[in-house]
Amino acid sequence: MKQWIVFEGGEGSGKTTLMAALEEHLVSRGMDVLCTREPGGVPIAEAIRRIILDPQNKELDPIAEALLFAASRRQHLVEKVLPALKEGKMVLMDRFVDSSLAYQGHAREIGLDEVRRINALATQGHMPDVVFLLDIEPIKGLERIRADRDSLNRLDLETMRFHEKVREGYHLLARENPNMFVLDAQKSVEELLHEVLETLFP
Ligand code: TYD
Repeated sequence: MKQWIVFEGGEGSGKTTLMAALEEHLVSRGMDVLCTREPGGVPIAEAIRRIILDPQNKELDPIAEALLFAASRRQHLVEKVLPALKEGKMVLMDRFVDSSLAYQGHAREIGLDEVRRINALATQGHMPDVVFLLDIEPIKGLERIRADRDSLNRLDLETMRFHEKVREGYHLLARENPNMFVLDAQKSVEELLHEVLETLFP
């Protein structure tokens, strides 16, 4: 059974909405589900994340950024995700290593292999069973979140070229990972949920 499921995608790709629908469905089937996202309410991971997303931290070096994401990831994994998996819960996660590969590795041009190395240390080989990539043109995704301008963070404020590169990075990853499924984020939540369930329960 697929127990650990990760959702990936650019800004405004609708991960949160789809995850909520999936969680509701799984709970209605009587499953025990943990729905989480890094830093996931883990105080140490939260503190690390505040440094990364603070729009004032313009000097943050790309490799330092990748290391901080990996550190936050590690803490959330150890404190929250691994215990839940051990208890037999189904874990739905908003973003994981592929976010660092697409954003830091590809878009920031640190290189996929470098970011893989950093994250191999952070994850110690613990990887999700399946990753769903919600694919959307950046311009459309950003339109969706523009309504909520006040909450734009340091990464949302990157150039359009940066977001295009994030998408390109995700496509590279999907090509080489048989456990990564690309979904068209423009479809309705109902359609997307249907596709997700077909993959999880063939
Ligand atoms: P968040 O507000 O959680 O974004 P979203 O709702 O889009 O998931 O902010 C996370 C931002 O950090 C988002 O722009 C993606 C980026 N990010 C990375 O660059 N690398 C990473 O490893 C992770 C997890 C997120």
